[in-house]
Amino acid sequence: MTKAFEHMPTDAAVQRAAISLQAGEVVAFPTETVYGLGADATNASAVRKIFALKGRPADHPLIVHVLGRGDIDDWALDVPEAARRLAEALWPGPLTLILRKAPHVLAEVTGGQDTVGLRSPAGVTASALLYAFRGPPRGAPCGIAAPSANRFGHVSPTTAEHVRDEFGPDLTILDGGPCEIGLESTIVDFSRGAPVLLRPGGASRASIERVLGAPLGERDAQAPRASGTLAAHYAPRTTLALVTSADLEAELETPANVAVLALREPQGDIRVTSWITASSDPARYGHDLYANLRTLDASGAKRIVVEAPPLLSAWEAVNDRLARAAAGARGLDDDEP
Ligand code: TXA
Ligand code: MG
Repeated sequence: MTKAFEHMPTDAAVQRAAISLQAGEVVAFPTETVYGLGADATNASAVRKIFALKGRPADHPLIVHVLGRGDIDDWALDVPEAARRLAEALWPGPLTLILRKAPHVLAEVTGGQDTVGLRSPAGVTASALLYAFRGPPRGAPCGIAAPSANRFGHVSPTTAEHVRDEFGPDLTILDGGPCEIGLESTIVDFSRGAPVLLRPGGASRASIERVLGAPLGERDAQAPRASGTLAAHYAPRTTLALVTSADLEAELETPANVAVLALREPQGDIRVTSWITASSDPARYGHDLYANLRTLDASGAKRIVVEAPPLLSAWEAVNDRLARAAAGARGLDDDEP
């Protein structure tokens, strides 16, 4: 895995990015999970630029990235004790808390809902950017609103190059090298009583439940809207099928224009367009997943076939993203005979 400081941008680059944010511009920046498309969370016109760039519907809320626990009460009201304990244990880190919003929080950020998503990112570049952006403590709320830096519904970026592939050369990108985790944060909703897992992610369910001392609730029909929880999210452009090992074998019997993401090496001649053997370690698999999907997407194959990982808790976030990517591909399949 990459060392945290290896790809640290220069102080000057961090300062320039912070000044752009203060001036109401959009800047892409790395976090330990994925790259974000950031803007000053207190500047409505800056936040609107994110939606325009991403092509994201205006009623989908953004996460506000903050320096740490000390910022929670600048953004949220009625914060449950359990949410504070989670922040204490797991921030900075890949955990987003959904809390009742403070009155000043912009509707542009919350998608018009009465809640706000807060996260303190652990990446060294993200922390440096947040410090530079805040400047000397002023007592005013300070946060960077940022969704993942991809076009709506597409695969999240885990390198600066992925962000450039999504948005072209005009976007300011703070390059901090590859993200350490590679999958988005875990989202826990505290706004409607007992905590509910809205999206599995970088912080494991077990690590959260250990701190809470109780199991997390599951999403239901009343759960708040979250684009990352739509079935067809995180999809590559090529049709993607999630198959069992046995189905993969059958698939390989005839040569085909397919790109494979498997958990084992190919045997004999490869009769497919491309093949990636992914790590059997879930953290490593998750770290590489989006880059692998982008590579397979660009291979020119007609279909992507993914060998389903085990249905074990350590694979929960990976399985969630793969299921969504496959659902997106089925949507595209509707156009085919
Ligand atoms: O790891 C991450 O969470 C990355 C990095 C950049 O921090 N961010 C990220 O943002 O994945 P985004 O917008 O791509 O996904 C965040 C999800 C969305 O599905 C959004 O709808 C949901 O969080 N969300 C944000 N605020 C919310 C709120 N107040 N209530 C419910 N869901 C919320
Ligand atoms: Mg996203």
